[in-house]
Amino acid sequence: MKAYYAPGRVNLIGEHTDYNDGFVLPIAIALGCRIETRELDVPELRLSSKQYADTRTVALADLAGLQPAKHWSDYPLGVARELLVLGVELKGMVLEIDATVPTGSGLSSSAALEVASALALLDGHELEKAELARLCQRAERNFVGMPCGIMDQYASVFGEQGAAMLLDCRAVTHERVPLPAGVSVVVVNSMVKHDLGASAYRDRVAQCQEALTHFPGKAALRDVTLGELERAAAGIPEVPLARARHNVLENWRVRQFHAAAAEADLARMGQLFVESHRSLRDDYEVSCEELDFLVDAALTLPGVQGARMTGGGFGGCTVNLVEKGAEEAFAKEMRARYQARYQLDPAVIVTTPCAGARSL
Ligand code: GLA
Repeated sequence: MKAYYAPGRVNLIGEHTDYNDGFVLPIAIALGCRIETRELDVPELRLSSKQYADTRTVALADLAGLQPAKHWSDYPLGVARELLVLGVELKGMVLEIDATVPTGSGLSSSAALEVASALALLDGHELEKAELARLCQRAERNFVGMPCGIMDQYASVFGEQGAAMLLDCRAVTHERVPLPAGVSVVVVNSMVKHDLGASAYRDRVAQCQEALTHFPGKAALRDVTLGELERAAAGIPEVPLARARHNVLENWRVRQFHAAAAEADLARMGQLFVESHRSLRDDYEVSCEELDFLVDAALTLPGVQGARMTGGGFGGCTVNLVEKGAEEAFAKEMRARYQARYQLDPAVIVTTPCAGARSL
């Protein structure tokens, strides 16, 4: 038996910027996906999951012609297909999946599953780390059909204990960003996932592309400055303009957050969180009532420096910067208020930056 592990992530700031070649600042978290493998003497993949009752068996010979099944197994199978494209020789094996990242929560359960699957299927074959992240992203784009950026897979691969990462999504490289000692990262799960998520994500990607057509010569929204945006604004329809404005300002906020973290300026870090949330709510329109409620409630509590939605949106989690020592009271109060309003018990997770994917 061999075992592999890949973590989920929480993004601190830089939302919906990755597929526009921009900047993001995530951490890997202590929740993840573990896969145990056993070799088989038949050429097939047998997939099972502790979280789902149904299993799936696919012959290696059928992988190349496979169609997605809208099933959890699409993630590992999409990865297997990309490995075939790279020329990796796959072996017949049993993969037993056990994940602690809640699905649909915006904490990258998909990326954790993809990256752990890639390590399991590689079975010791070397693959450069950035290439591993890219391969898993291709699996999600090509087979699962989500036109995602690189953030989630990259964070799962490159997570580092004790430090966040400032990821340049064009260069696909990062700089480590230690967080100030006085602050805790606290995730609050709204426990809702609105159906719109996937189609709204595709719409956002398309609207950003549309906005980009108003900036001839620019390769991505990341290359547009605020001045250029202001000069072109009158000629851009309202929706793509708002999406572009979010991107230009969000990239700027990521850099500001990086600088504020270096100076341990918690108040500034928190302020940038709030600005990011408002921009995602108003200009990018990917928040929802429950997330707005959680953010607004958090900002009234002692020791809270900042709060924002995190991940793709339309449900999932908020991420909060809470002063050390105030976490417990924060969690208690947030649960009470959310339960009173929505009759749902939100999971509250105090997390620190964790190490990335590995063989166990
Ligand atoms: C999802 C995608 C990421 C990123 C975020 C939004 O998590 O998988 O690539 O676009 O949404 O920041």
